[in-house]
Amino acid sequence: MNKKSISNANLNGKKVIVRCDFNVPISYDGFIVDDRRITEALPTIKFLVQQGARVILCSHFGRPHGKVQCKLSLEPVAIRLNQYFENSVKFVKDVIGTSACKVSKNLENGEICLLENLRFEIGEEKNEDSFAKSLASLAEVYVNDAFGACHREHASIVGVPKFLPSYFGFLVQKEIKEMSEVIKNPKRPFVSILGGSKVSDKIGVIKNLIDKVDTFIIGGGMAYTFMNALGYSVGDSICEKDRLELARDIMEKTKEKGVRFLLPVDNKVGKEYSPETEFKVVGADKIPNGWQGLDIGPRTCEIFSNEIKNAGTIVWNGPMGVSEWDNFSQGTFSVARAVAESESASIVGGGDSAVAIKKIECESKITHISTGGGASLMFLEGIELPGIKAISDRPFAKF
Ligand code: 3PG
Repeated sequence: MNKKSISNANLNGKKVIVRCDFNVPISYDGFIVDDRRITEALPTIKFLVQQGARVILCSHFGRPHGKVQCKLSLEPVAIRLNQYFENSVKFVKDVIGTSACKVSKNLENGEICLLENLRFEIGEEKNEDSFAKSLASLAEVYVNDAFGACHREHASIVGVPKFLPSYFGFLVQKEIKEMSEVIKNPKRPFVSILGGSKVSDKIGVIKNLIDKVDTFIIGGGMAYTFMNALGYSVGDSICEKDRLELARDIMEKTKEKGVRFLLPVDNKVGKEYSPETEFKVVGADKIPNGWQGLDIGPRTCEIFSNEIKNAGTIVWNGPMGVSEWDNFSQGTFSVARAVAESESASIVGGGDSAVAIKKIECESKITHISTGGGASLMFLEGIELPGIKAISDRPFAKF
């Protein structure tokens, strides 16, 4: 991959289109809640500026599916970028229209512009060649630094590299390197913590990691499907009835392979799916009807934390409960604290897990926090991401 790094390209005076993932969380009144996806892209952008490139940034934001929606404009991102680049970033109000053509054409060496949300154009998600070609025509070189979107076969990810000499930015390189190293040479015991609501979202990861890890720790909504598969009553908890057989198979396989599979021993259950609902702690096999599991219980927090603290390598993806609600966030925070306190190499992926680490101010104690949600999961599934393949497989074009 290194030979496709931007550090190998001659970029002086070249118009470079950089695909970033600026899909940042935003508050209801339009403020950026967490700008990590922006700050993580800065090394690439600053490098291009130093090289004297004319930088055209682009990204998706939300899921407008080809329709212009004011609330999904990238303007707040342009404002934030301007705080890092002394108000020198020009915001372009279209993607491939007259403004985009004019601004990109008139950029001076070292100048930066940001195009409007790529998904305002229907051709982006449909991966239309005509759209990819128009986007490519704004520039002479393409750089992919959007790790979080590399699992999407969209025009700006897999289409544009067909038309331009293409390189990887520093963020994409860092994500792949950190995650590959940890998974290839794990210090033992290797513990994978998986949460989130659905087993179906994590099947691929479990299947790929089953031959690699020593222990799976399972929490979040997905745990109830496994618990139900063991015959436990799960009350009104989220449970994928059509995955019970699969859940049994997975647990059988982990047993055959000597991989430990830890499920909650107690849960915090609520009357309703609501932040203020009445709640209590019950044994994992005793969730009554009319109640639903919304977090792991205190005994489980203790057991999971001890396992995590003794791990040599940790890969964590997904919350242990409804972590955005105070009454049901303790499980996720106790896991976050244990991961941060352990001496292990740790990889954290997925929005909620990363937010928990940030909230306890322990980002510096984690080996790598991925900017990817779906992309980091696909990587952990052992699948080559389309965005990586689109550049790696193309003949090397030196500029
Ligand atoms: C993400 O938030 O995981 C990425 O930005 C991809 O967004 P998407 O799931 O809307 O494609």
